[in-house]
Amino acid sequence: MNYLEKNKAYWEKGYTAVNVDHFVFRFYGRILKPQFGLGGGWERLVDFGCGQGAAVNYFRKMGFNARGVDISETDICAAKIRYPHIAQNFLLCDPSPKANDIYGFSDDVEVITAFQSLYYFSDEDFQDCMDKLYRSMRSGGVFFATMMGEGSREFFDNSTEYKGGLRVVNFRNDRLEVKDHCISFIKDEDQLKRKFKMFKPVHIGYYSEKFRSDEGGGYHFTFCGVK
Ligand SMILES: C[S@@+](CC[C@H](N)C(=O)[O-])C[C@H]1O[C@@H](n2cnc3c(N)ncnc32)[C@H](O)[C@@H]1O
Repeated sequence: MNYLEKNKAYWEKGYTAVNVDHFVFRFYGRILKPQFGLGGGWERLVDFGCGQGAAVNYFRKMGFNARGVDISETDICAAKIRYPHIAQNFLLCDPSPKANDIYGFSDDVEVITAFQSLYYFSDEDFQDCMDKLYRSMRSGGVFFATMMGEGSREFFDNSTEYKGGLRVVNFRNDRLEVKDHCISFIKDEDQLKRKFKMFKPVHIGYYSEKFRSDEGGGYHFTFCGVK
């Protein structure tokens, strides 16, 4: 099994997130609506790595023509059941970017979001994926991603260097079992900007949370850019 197939197998366990996370509605409320005036115009939006679809449903409610793509059949099936009125907007994709012609829409995409979903790629696969996402966007379109930082200590401290910019993580407690899971960590803002150099950076930020003594802070950088 290559690392992409292992990644798919890992996510087939399902990612239950019934509610919209704070970084989704804060991105909309602090950036997308006030700065770009988007929402309500049936603008095309793609949520990459949509999990069980809460963000797609939220953006739909905010007036976007929103689609979600994910590698996990478990999650895509759950999303279709949870949100039957937009079941056709949830699409299964191949774990390898080379095998996907498009993600969601082929063109005229106004907004792409990737919440905690773009760091499971080697540098080469990441580039392939970004080329396809970028190509589908209209000029002036808005891109927003949250990327795991080295400050995500329970993962970074339990990882070893792998290849292609990836580290392999092994971590276990009574909540989580992460085995040979490949993640690409972001060191600092400069690296984040280099990673998304195809976009003009608009806002760089971060969020972090810690609830357990035996886990590190879940530190994520946020990147907002314009095509
Ligand atoms: C940490 S979860 C985040 C889910 C959701 N975006 C959220 O914030 O609640 C990561 C998601 O990315 C998806 N994912 C991982 N690798 C992917 C790939 N190569 N292509 C598309 N989705 C992927 C996983 O299946 C999973 O649903």
